[in-house]
This record gives sequence, structure tokens and C-alpha cells, in this order.
Amino acid sequence: MCGIVGYVGKKNAYSILISGLKRLEYRGYDSAGVAMINVQSELNIYKTKGKVDDLVAFCDEKDTTGTIGIAHTRWATHGEPSSKNAHPHVSASGRLALIHNGIIENYITLKEKLIDRGVQFRSVTDSEVLVQLIEYIMQSNELDLLEAVQVALHQVIGAYAIAILDREHPDTIVCARQSSPLVVGLGKDHDYYLASDASPIAEYTDKVVYLNDGDIAVLQYGKTLKMVNKDNETQQPKVKQIDVSLGQLEKGGYPYFMLKEIFEQPECLRDCMRGRINVESNRISLSAVIDYREKLINARRIIIVACGTSWHAGLIGKQLFESLCRIPVEVEYASEFRYRNPVIFPDDVVIAISQSGETADTLAAIELASKSGAFVFGVCNAIGASIPRQTQTGVYIHVGPEIGVASTKAFTGQVTTLSMLALCLAQERKSIPAAMYQEMIKELASIPEKLELALRTNKQIEQLAPIFTYAKNCLYLGRGYNYPVALEGALKLKEISYIHAEGYPAAEMKHGPIALIDSEMPVFVIATRDRLYDKVISNIQEVRARGGRVTALVTEGDEQISKLADYVIELPDTLECFQPLIASIPLQLLAYHIAVCKGKDVDRPRNLAKSVTVE
Ligand code: F6R
Repeated sequence: MCGIVGYVGKKNAYSILISGLKRLEYRGYDSAGVAMINVQSELNIYKTKGKVDDLVAFCDEKDTTGTIGIAHTRWATHGEPSSKNAHPHVSASGRLALIHNGIIENYITLKEKLIDRGVQFRSVTDSEVLVQLIEYIMQSNELDLLEAVQVALHQVIGAYAIAILDREHPDTIVCARQSSPLVVGLGKDHDYYLASDASPIAEYTDKVVYLNDGDIAVLQYGKTLKMVNKDNETQQPKVKQIDVSLGQLEKGGYPYFMLKEIFEQPECLRDCMRGRINVESNRISLSAVIDYREKLINARRIIIVACGTSWHAGLIGKQLFESLCRIPVEVEYASEFRYRNPVIFPDDVVIAISQSGETADTLAAIELASKSGAFVFGVCNAIGASIPRQTQTGVYIHVGPEIGVASTKAFTGQVTTLSMLALCLAQERKSIPAAMYQEMIKELASIPEKLELALRTNKQIEQLAPIFTYAKNCLYLGRGYNYPVALEGALKLKEISYIHAEGYPAAEMKHGPIALIDSEMPVFVIATRDRLYDKVISNIQEVRARGGRVTALVTEGDEQISKLADYVIELPDTLECFQPLIASIPLQLLAYHIAVCKGKDVDRPRNLAKSVTVE
């Protein structure tokens, strides 16, 4: 987590750094800081506990001049959120300033050695050890900054994206990456931008270089980008074109990114399917399936690895692949899988699902699967992120940048992508009849219009939300394809309103959670008309019999459940396997409106960060 930004060129660095930090605030918002070198070669560092707006207020009337600078927004790992622990960290002599995203695992050993040699530390972070170590190496070996960084990184164990300023070289930033993302933007005049992802860079240039693990880059204004590794071997920068419009990075009139992203979903899913589903010719084509057809259709087993919301999408993927392709599927938390010594066969296909493409545990699961010889396939949103680069092939979900910390459009994008992939493989494996395949393609293509209808429930949900703000606990129930929807609905509520919520398979409720039900416990049931409809009605009866208050998501026109439930939310009908796409919408809206009613900062929920780059 943590967001880092840098600039060197001829423009005012401060404004670029602050607008960059605002775009990266989703990565953490415990504290923020900037460092700039002014024309007198003074290194000015300002940092404060809190959000980027607090930093801006703190910098008011201070010297923020200079055309070179670095900045950081922190998600605390080592050391409480405070201005002392905020980045940039400054070296003992005051010559160097450093920002870091990641974790230095051997920092205690390094710190003790430096303290023995007389270096004084100002913070309790793991990150400060980097700047003190680099300066110590510079001074004791008379090395320049790049050389000292190369020596230091040989001693460091852990994950890092770092950027360093040297007061004595006010035209150069040295940066490096190992297991934490870093992107360099190439300006027109050999000026350089630097950030944890491309969003702070997109408004200035569309030419970027994604650093690979082990890369060290020297960004010197007016000079060509220099890239080496720790052993000083030259690395060839691969310049990529990015395609992110500014509109995608702004709130567009919505009070929160989360609401904007909920409402964007019909368009996002059209983008996700564009060029891939062709209703006229009744075909889905995914280039990854064309290129790796044999590997994919002959999979002995699919193992899905993911975290959080992406894991919920994986649970829906499991049902799709099993029922349509008849391939056995396991869905694993990446964080468990990576440490479990799992059995992986060379003819397994491992599908890694991730919005950010940077989740540390998912990356480690990919590494493990690749080493075991499995074929690794990525389902990712962030273009050029580590996961698409470290998998053999994959599919982008193409829903555009997701900025709200609680994932919404990425979830429906992932489920849509998994639906297309399952249908594609089912067609190749001939595991479903042609008529069924055609009906499903047609229905999937019509989902964006149905989402538009589902979004019309917004007003009703906004009115219902205040009823639930008192709740301490909520239960979400669903069965079959709707069970992961219940899990996801509960996660959304927990994340942004801080109300405890549990998702449960509706029939399992009587094996424990039923004990919790009373008139104080709101129960949300996904009860759309499908194979298990009658069973879910029985589950609703069980809740009612214990005084529980039921809000049911039903298929439009349903008359039976409206007699049983306290509140019903009607949704357009669709095939059972696509119901999660539609049923997720009111649950996202419900979490959103409850959180707003409770006065919570929906886009910046406490303790969370969007990109979880530490394990
Ligand atoms: C929940 C949420 C998280 C992420 C999880 C994985 O709203 O956003 O649970 O789903 O941290 O992140 P990615 O998908 O980026 O790997």
C-alpha cells in the first residue's frame, strides 16, 4: 500500500505532487508528506498525520517552490500514523530524502548495525533504515547516490518501491522497485513523473515505463532515462502507451467515487464485453483462449486464487466453470494457498483474479503456481500491473480505473469476464448444447440494460437505508450463485459503514447463526426466482418465525415473498448464473447509503487501502 509520486523537470513540482497524491489516496491515508529542492538547493520537507488535504493546509505559506520533488501518502505498517513516521524520511545529515512503499523485512538488523555506528534515527518505521543506510554507504565509501543505492539494495530484504532526492543533485531522482509497483512517466522535454500507478501521470503524458523487479531508474532532467540493476547491468526501458482519460479519474458530479462507480457499471460491462461478444454471429472470442486453447480446454482442474472481493468473484467463477465446462474448480484465498504447500499439477490452470494486479498474496500465489509448472492465467483490471505481467496470459476486465476503496465495478467486471471465459471454454469443450450457448450469450449481452433497471432501485434504497443505521449486526443470506453475492454484500457493508455483517448460505443458517436472529437483526435475503427459490422461501420463514426483519431482493413481479418480507426490492429477471451481476447492485447501494447516513467517509474507510501490496 502507500502511494508515492515524484517529478523532476521545469514545472512547479509541488502542484504535480499534491494532485498525484490525491489520485493515490486510495492506497492509504494515515499521513502524507512532500519534499522539494528549491533554487537555493534547500531541501524542504513537510509532513503531517492525516490526509492529503491536511498536508495542503500544513504547507500553506511555506516554501513549496522547486522543480523537483517526491511525495507520499501512507498506510501504516511499522509505526503508528504520526508526522514523525510520515514520509519522506530524511538522512542523518539532511542531504537525502526518501519515500518508500513496501516492507523492509530485515530492518531491525540493519537498524541495529547503523545505530552501533552512530547513526541516529528519528522514526520507528522500517522505511527510515533505507535512507540512513544509503547515506551511510555514500559517506563511508565515497559513492554517488546511484552507487550507494545499488550497494544498499544488496543488503535489503523485503518489498520496496523507493524514490530518493539528493540535495546536492537537484536535477535527479533515483528510484527502484522490488515487489511494489512503480511507473515512470516520460515528459516531452526529458522531464519525468513517477508514481505507484499511472493515474497521477495520465494527465501529463501517455508514455510510461513500468519498472520490473530489480530495476533502478535514474530520472535526470534533460537526460535520457537510465535504467540499471543492483549489479549495474543496463536494463532496457520498455515504453508503453497508456489510455486513461481524465474523466475516468474524476468524480463527475457524484459525491463519492463509489457511487460514481456503482452507476458506471452498465457502461463498464459494455466495455468489458466490447469486441469479445458478438450476438449476431453468436460467438465469444477471447484472444487468450485462441492463443492457449489446448492448455485451457484440457485443464485437469482450475484453481482460482484471489483475495477479498476478487475471491467472491472467484466463487461465482467456480460455479460457472463447473456447470458449463464440467471442469473441477477450487477457489483459494491467495494468502492461504501460498503457505499451504498445495498439490498443483502441471495440467492445472490457475486463474488469479485481481482488480489492482498488485495484491502481494495473489502475486505470491502466482509465483508458487508457476514454479509448480501450472499454467497461470490472470483476470485483472489495472493495465500493465504486476499480475498481468507475471501470468502466462489472461484477460483484462476493462472497467476503467476503480478509485473507491470498496470494490464495485471491478466485481461485476470480474464476474462478466469469468462468464465469458466459461462460455468460451464450454463452447470449445462442447460441454453445453449450442442452443444453450446461444441463449446465454444473448442474455449476457443484455445484462448492461438490466443493470440500468436495477440501478433504478437507488431511490428506494436511499429511503430504506436510515432504518438500518442502528444495526450492530446484519445477516446476508443467499444460495447457489447468490451465496457469493451475500458474502460480497456483507463485505461492502462492513467496509464502509463499520456494521458487523455476515454472509451465509441460507440453508446453513440453521446450523448456528440462527441463534443470533431477533428483531434487532436485519436480514437481507437474495431470493430471486431460480432453482432454489422455494428453498429460500423456507429459509425466510425460519427467520420470520424468530422475529427477524427481512429485506428480500426478488425478481420483479414476485408476489409470494412480498407477503413474507418486511421490505422487498424488485430486480429484473435473468438466467440464474447471471443473477449475481444484477443482485450485487442493490447491495452495493445499500452499503453506500447506510454508510452515508452514518456520516462515514465512503471513499476512504478507516484502516483500509485499495491496493494491498503487503502480505
Ligand atoms: C473489497 C476490496 C478488497 C479487494 C482485495 C483484493 O471491497 O476491494 O477486498 O477485493 O483487497 O484486491 P485486488 O482485487 O486488487 O487483488
